[in-house]
Amino acid sequence: MSSTENIYLPKVVQLDRVVDEIHEVRTFVWHFEDPADQAAFKKFRPGQFAQVSIFGAGEFPASLPPSPTENEMFFTIRTVGGCTAALHRLQPGDRFAVRGPYGNGFPMDDYAGKNLVFVAGGIGLIPLRSCIVYALAHRERYERIQIYYGAKTPRELMYLPNLRAWEQAAGIECQLTVDRASDGWTGNVGVVGSLFKRPGVHVPVENTVAFVCGPPVMFRFVIRDLLDMGFREDQIMSTLERYMKCGVGKCGHCCIGVAYVCVDGPVFTYEQIKKLGEDI
Ligand SMILES: Cc1cc2nc3c(=O)[nH]c(=O)nc-3n(C[C@H](O)[C@H](O)[C@H](O)COP(=O)(O)OP(=O)(O)OC[C@H]3O[C@@H](n4cnc5c(N)ncnc54)[C@H](O)[C@@H]3O)c2cc1C
Ligand code: FES
Repeated sequence: MSSTENIYLPKVVQLDRVVDEIHEVRTFVWHFEDPADQAAFKKFRPGQFAQVSIFGAGEFPASLPPSPTENEMFFTIRTVGGCTAALHRLQPGDRFAVRGPYGNGFPMDDYAGKNLVFVAGGIGLIPLRSCIVYALAHRERYERIQIYYGAKTPRELMYLPNLRAWEQAAGIECQLTVDRASDGWTGNVGVVGSLFKRPGVHVPVENTVAFVCGPPVMFRFVIRDLLDMGFREDQIMSTLERYMKCGVGKCGHCCIGVAYVCVDGPVFTYEQIKKLGEDI
């Protein structure tokens, strides 16, 4: 970026296609109109986010679920209010704008030689998808890779093609569960933490990093399970969501105590989250 470039100026992108994930959640596949913007943006890290501008509606932060090892760019967005609903109304060929990538992201390269355990609930899989795909693209760098994912019902399991591929992939362990079986579901039933107690499941504690993302109630129970298993608080990673405006550490909207979630986060260890006094 040149010193005269406006840091708030988003780059125009075009929507390629829309994929229905679960109720009110869709994946929006897009590309930058200028290939130079694409090349600059592709240096993002798993766990970073971007600011998405919908013309005439506003701007909102969104995680980057693709891995930098993949070619397509996309967001996966739940419609909750004005901006996200405006994105959901766009059609392939329509334009919107993106600035970023922002935030610290997960230090995946520092985890080389470690076991990785991913624990996600519901749309908590959105920020973790990038790390999982990145880790699998660099499989030789890591020891065991375990994925535990839960949703309320089978219809609320996200990224189904990825889940099916991870379940069948050699060299990783992937288990899914739902709170309530329906639609002919014959798999595990129970909260995501119940997977740790299933026969044959062993989560190593030594030399392991745990990634936990999901709704607050799931987060609290999974953290308790991991601590009971012997995990230290600094072995557990998660991402925080905060109201954001600038995304670049200027406006103060995202502050929790001394931390700016947009630049110091959104990735934090559980130890840091506790010190910040964040009540998840
Ligand atoms: C770093 C980061 C990454 C995110 N990644 C994703 C993602 O990948 N997919 C996705 O669907 N959403 C994501 N979000 C949440 C998303 O930014 C909000 O849903 C969005 O800003 C809502 O905008 P809106 O104009 O549609 O709704 P608004 O009209 O602004 O709000 C609608 C409702 O949502 C609540 N709300 C809005 N923003 C937040 C927030 N940040 N935290 C808690 N409640 C909020 C409001 O209180 C209100 O009740 C992320 C947020 C952050 C901070
Ligand atoms: S969003 Fe402006 S300081 Fe973080």
